[in-house]
Amino acid sequence: MARKIILDLDTGIDDALALAYALGSDELEVIGVTGTYGNVLVETGVRNSLAILELFGRDDVPVFAGPDHARKRDSFEVLEISEFIHGTNGIGEAVLPEPKRHAEKKSAVDFLVESVRKYGDDLVIVPTGPSTTIAAAIEADEDFAKNAHIVMMGGALTAPGNVSAWAEANVNQDPEATNLLFRRAQDVTMIGLDVTLQTLLTTKETTQWRELGTPGGTFLADATDYYIKAYETTAPHLGGCGLHDPLAVAVAVDPSLVTTIDINMKTEVDGCTRGRTIADEERLNDPVKTAKVAVGVDVQRFLGEFMQRLTALASAKA
Ligand code: BDR
Ligand code: CA
Repeated sequence: MARKIILDLDTGIDDALALAYALGSDELEVIGVTGTYGNVLVETGVRNSLAILELFGRDDVPVFAGPDHARKRDSFEVLEISEFIHGTNGIGEAVLPEPKRHAEKKSAVDFLVESVRKYGDDLVIVPTGPSTTIAAAIEADEDFAKNAHIVMMGGALTAPGNVSAWAEANVNQDPEATNLLFRRAQDVTMIGLDVTLQTLLTTKETTQWRELGTPGGTFLADATDYYIKAYETTAPHLGGCGLHDPLAVAVAVDPSLVTTIDINMKTEVDGCTRGRTIADEERLNDPVKTAKVAVGVDVQRFLGEFMQRLTALASAKA
């Protein structure tokens, strides 16, 4: 039986690739997408998710909007660096038809809480943006943190941050929210920069999508080529773009793609290390560990799965 999945996306180019990975995985049943702010405004992210679902013929998947800014702020503006990496529309200026559907009336937080109550161990939640929505769900329902299974893209334990020496972009948006998630959630797998910057894509792969000559293939190639170009400027030493968000979905399908360490985590919220994800010194000796942090990844196996699933998904003619 397919495992149910909810993706919490700030859609975003690699978020789009994560959604495509989930849609292309028979092991998963995508029961909903929740939209957060981050790479884009929440309404842009929701629009992108709806448009991508429509492109791949999945109008049956509902989309819910989450909070539109961080807990400690009263508004949100897209950072210049996010626009540079993901484009002003979040999908690398790729053009998709205006979606026919809108977000559901129900809030992302209510959908998450109800789904964990209903499906328990049969559900995995994959957040690939700021932790604001998940933190709100934890506060909304006291059983959520106990019962939710979370595989998140965010943080950096053994590698430097990507927006500051300490902070990874998703955590940087709302460190208090990620801290709450780490301290309260009982089953979190952290897929951070330690592993996602080892999984890189180049134009050699996107050419395969373009050559399909399908709407899906053209979209994946257009958006990802924009992302690869941005990486050529921001991180030329890597030689490709980081497949951050799709790796988290891949691990939700197959945890053996990464090696992890068991650890109780926290997020620094004060001073110059604000946004750092690190072991919680107060729970170092607690025999119960609530997080697994990925520190190694089978790069070739992941890239093989990634290309096979996305290429098959994008092969549909219309
Ligand atoms: C994360 O930040 C966002 O820009 C990406 O979509 C990814 O989720 C990488 O640090
Ligand atoms: Ca993201």
